Amino acid sequence: MNKNDETKTTTDTGPPCGSDVMTCYNAVRKEVIGDCTLYQGDCAVILPQLPGFDLILTDPPYGIGESGGDKKRRRGYNAVVVHEDLGWDKTRPPAWIFGLIISKADMQIIWGGNYFADCLPPSMGWYYWDKKMGGDFSDGELAWTSEQRAVRDFSKSPFAGLKGGHLRVHPTQKPVALMEWCLTNAPDAKTVCDPFMGSGTTGVACARKGLTFTGIEREPKYFDIACKRIEEAYRTRPRLFDAVEKIVPKQMSLI
Ligand SMILES: C[S@@+](CC[C@H](N)C(=O)[O-])C[C@H]1O[C@@H](n2cnc3c(N)ncnc32)[C@H](O)[C@@H]1O
Repeated sequence: MNKNDETKTTTDTGPPCGSDVMTCYNAVRKEVIGDCTLYQGDCAVILPQLPGFDLILTDPPYGIGESGGDKKRRRGYNAVVVHEDLGWDKTRPPAWIFGLIISKADMQIIWGGNYFADCLPPSMGWYYWDKKMGGDFSDGELAWTSEQRAVRDFSKSPFAGLKGGHLRVHPTQKPVALMEWCLTNAPDAKTVCDPFMGSGTTGVACARKGLTFTGIEREPKYFDIACKRIEEAYRTRPRLFDAVEKIVPKQMSLI
């Protein structure tokens, strides 16, 4: 890289963006809902400007044409939903995005990891989700994680029983229970980012668990849906956290 290239890269990346900065360079919109900060825009531009996180939990495009269209009918809640093809799954993210994701957090969980295995370092700690769907869908999905520990199977966790019927508003939407299970596998994570937020499932799981979340989504349609789902998650979240805060005893004087 010559000196001119270096200058160009710095300019393209824009000014640093921390929690005290209102607007990220090139973010089309920014919404703050409770402890969740959501950016509409391209994560390749926005993520480099954000501070680091404890965990990046994400589900990038696999590059297999699953972004919608008449052939991509999905069973919604009591209905078959045909999602408009917005074209976001034509290609997978470039390899450098995975390097960025690794540099931006202490721990990473990346769904569809088998599609990106050539962009990620070797790891022991993969997660498996048996989708139990049949038909022409894959039998299951794999997540690459940065953890050097045994493989984990979602279906063996108590969260698997919680799946239930949920409104399908995105063609590749993950169950909230799956993302909540991922969060329980990262018990020390207090700040979580999903740079490919989609309909905001990771944000919903974070809101329910009282964690700080940052999400990035390029499509306005899914950004709006994510805002609504996260607002709803705050309205309906278990009140356990509030109750615990109230009943935690204060340190008593020993004298
Ligand atoms: C596999 S989907 C995520 C679905 C999500 N897990 C859910 O439950 O709704 C990937 C999402 O990344 C978004 N996306 C693709 N490229 C992006 C980019 N460069 N920056 C931000 N979002 C992007 C797509 O619009 C899509 O909604």
